Amino acid sequence: MIGIAIDGPSGAGKSTIAKALAKDLGYIYVDTGAIYRTVGLYMQRKGVSTEDKEGIENNLPDVKVELKYEDGEQKMYLCDEEVSGLIRTPLIAKYASVVSAVPKVREFLFDMQRSLARENNVIMDGRDIGTVILPDADVKIFLTASAEARAQRRVDQLVEKGETVSYDDILASIKERDARDSGRDVAPLKAADDAVTLDTSALNLEESIAAAKKIVVDTLSKKKSESKVKTKDKNKSGFYMWARKYLAPIIKFCMRVKTYGSENEQESGALIVCANHTAMLDVLSLAVSFKRQLRYLAKKELFKIPLLSQLITALGAYAVDRGTGDVAAIKKTLSILEDEEIVAMFPQGTRHKGVDPALTEVKHGVGMMVYRSKADVQPVFVRVKNYKYRFLRKKEVIIGKPIRYEEFGFTNGGKEEYERAAKLVFDRILALRYEGLDK
Ligand code: DC
Repeated sequence: MIGIAIDGPSGAGKSTIAKALAKDLGYIYVDTGAIYRTVGLYMQRKGVSTEDKEGIENNLPDVKVELKYEDGEQKMYLCDEEVSGLIRTPLIAKYASVVSAVPKVREFLFDMQRSLARENNVIMDGRDIGTVILPDADVKIFLTASAEARAQRRVDQLVEKGETVSYDDILASIKERDARDSGRDVAPLKAADDAVTLDTSALNLEESIAAAKKIVVDTLSKKKSESKVKTKDKNKSGFYMWARKYLAPIIKFCMRVKTYGSENEQESGALIVCANHTAMLDVLSLAVSFKRQLRYLAKKELFKIPLLSQLITALGAYAVDRGTGDVAAIKKTLSILEDEEIVAMFPQGTRHKGVDPALTEVKHGVGMMVYRSKADVQPVFVRVKNYKYRFLRKKEVIIGKPIRYEEFGFTNGGKEEYERAAKLVFDRILALRYEGLDK
């Protein structure tokens, strides 16, 4: 799950900006201020004074706060009553600010906020999101603006509603709230060390949204490229290197795999290795035949078996949860290709088990993967003399010349083009079947 934390003083535009971003990214927007306001409303209704910290603590166990989404809008419920509108008054803002300074109140609301972020991609705004609630948030923005700019915005809003207001009074109340929110002992308003500060004093709304979006996009893409480097390093380290060096030759020997055409192996870039499918262990025959690490789909269950799990991971397997359907598998495969790795696929889908491969049906899936990934294809023929007891028999892995993506001549994709591409791949695979044999 991705968590985006936006903290900052009241009136800096957090909620408007967070809402716009959430809509844009398809995340849920969590306004945590509303949660404190709801607790504040409860205390106000109970007649607890804003000075009475003990009274607030004593009443807390009876407060039932719920946050629900109706038509994508966050609604607040207090003891089963919808109070989303009632909490938007200056009096309740004051109560919210007071109750939020009580440590027991913050503890009381902690789990609620955390679990929302655990279960959803969220943009959460508040005062302590990046520091306390989501210290590991993927993006942290500290959104601020001068007290004067915020006061002016508030005046403009109220004037538009036809209210007569005093700029000085509003400025004073903003300063008072800032002081209380920043000066309190528990979770004071401050930017997390790793937050990006965005000062919107001189920006209008559109500019502020664009600036916040840029921070989100830049931070997420930076993280993504860092983690790519990490996974690449991981793939190339430790057990994998060891397995490549020592295990692969042993497996190759035991499985009696002989490789031909290694000089054809494409040495860099995204590549889909396509072979005919003779046996379940074809992927291993391929994995030990290639110089680069080969990746392939394996059932999720296999990863639960100790040792086997490490072995297949070392030899490039990645898990797929059959229950989640093909979409997850396609996505994962595309992201591996995007990382310029090699993925092995079998255009026939199922094993041909001794049936003449030329007579088997070819699925169009490979064509679609080529189209979507823009990867080149390396055709390979796995030749087994006798399909009976094939595990023990000699296997010849014949690597053919790569087919460049451009050769497929895709225009707009679609089933017909995928079928044509899959057929081209399979023809090239079949063309290798007698390679090196004295006919
Ligand atoms: O963002 P808002 O004005 O709706 O917040 C109401 C009060 O709640 C505000 O005075 C600060 C407090 N608050 C907090 O302490 N921690 C949060 N995460 C959100 C709000």
